This record gives sequence, C-alpha cells and structure tokens, in this order.
Amino acid sequence: MSVKIAPSLLSANFARIAEQIAVVQDAGADYLHLDVMDGRFVPNITWGPKIIGDLRPLSPLVFDAHLMIVEPERYVDDFRAAGCDRITFHLEATPHAQRLLVHLRSIGAKAGIAITPQTPVAMLQDIIEDCDNVLVMSVNPGFSGQAFIPRTFDKVREARALIDERGIDCSIEVDGGVGEKNARRLVEAGADVLVMGSTIFDAADPGAELRRIRALVSS
Ligand code: DX5
Ligand code: ZN
Repeated sequence: MSVKIAPSLLSANFARIAEQIAVVQDAGADYLHLDVMDGRFVPNITWGPKIIGDLRPLSPLVFDAHLMIVEPERYVDDFRAAGCDRITFHLEATPHAQRLLVHLRSIGAKAGIAITPQTPVAMLQDIIEDCDNVLVMSVNPGFSGQAFIPRTFDKVREARALIDERGIDCSIEVDGGVGEKNARRLVEAGADVLVMGSTIFDAADPGAELRRIRALVSS
C-alpha cells in the first residue's frame, strides 16, 4: 500500500478551517486526522461529533478519528453517524477492546486500536485479527508539537512483524512528532499512515510542506 498522509486538524486554525482543509486536500492529503479529547483520558479537550458532522460536507477525504477518551464504547456510534470512516480508540481506555473492534466493523467503520508509548505492541497479539488499523503513538497523547520518542521505530517494526506473520490487512499509523527527520525511517520500518499536525499546519506553506514530505517518503 502506498503511504497515506493524514494532516491532524489539532494544529489547524478552526477560525479558517474550511480554507485549511482545502489546502491540504489540494496538496494530496489522504485522510483528515481528527483528534477527539475529553479532558480525562488526556489533559486536553477538543471536539465531539457535532463539529465533525459540520466538517463532513467540506471534504470527501477519509475522516480518520482518533478517540482519546475514556469509555469510547459510549460514543463510537455517534462518531460513525457524524461521518467518521476510520475510528481508532485507545487500548488503555477500555477493558473490552475486542468487543468494541468487532462493533466498529459491524457499523461499517474501519476498526483501529491505539497504544500510548507505555504499552507494548505485544498487548495486541490476541486482538490484532480484529483490527483494520494500529496507531502507534510516538508522543504521549494530548498535544501537538511534542518531541518524537525514538523507541517508536522498534514498535513499528514489531507491529509490522505481527501483522505480516498473521497475513492480515491492517494499517500501521504513527502519530506524534512526525516530520522530515523521521518520516522516511518510519515508512522503512513499516508505517502505512503518517499523521502530522504541527509539521504541516505550522509551516509557512502547509500545502508545500505536505508535498515535500510526500516526496521524501516516496523517493
Ligand atoms: C496528539 C495527537 C496528534 C497530534 C499530532 O495527542 O494525537 O494527532 O495532533 O501533532 P504533531 O504532529 O504536532 O505531534
Ligand atoms: Zn492523533
């Protein structure tokens, strides 16, 4: 699969959101990454299904929801109804991840599991067959603009080995501190989806930055 680029709207300016979405879409973004934070699982608060539903008509891009909320099972149907295509929740946020993964597929979403830097990839061994996406966090979730944790390279390799060994179709997404310094190495380690917040939206020209990273990982 060719590498997917997923700009994270956490770093965008919501006063100009339609314009910012159009810029990354025109530059060839694959997904719009939507960080949902509840102020409990992570020390920050963002948006819920209402805002995502309002954004939905603005773009045909895949909506890639990253739920950083406790009890995600209470809200996934609302995020699906709001137009999220891929829904990824945290293993650390629910005791019944397998049930929720199965439910996500049953409502027509791609089912994703996210792990924070403290959680080993080995924790996914018994549920990987129920996953369409594994999101490896390369920072502690909550904020854009944090420094990439180098151990992530090995975790991506471990996830790649697990997925390949089972022969399943499951993407590996990396989120946090991704940019020109690590994008290519992450793809070489087996990443399929690169999330980028500050790298893209803090750039003077977000569209040009996206194309530059695309060229870096494609050459
Ligand atoms: C952090 C979020 C990320 C964030 C990434 O908890 O999950 O998606 O927006 O931002 P950067 O790319 O700036 O680290
Ligand atoms: Zn995210």
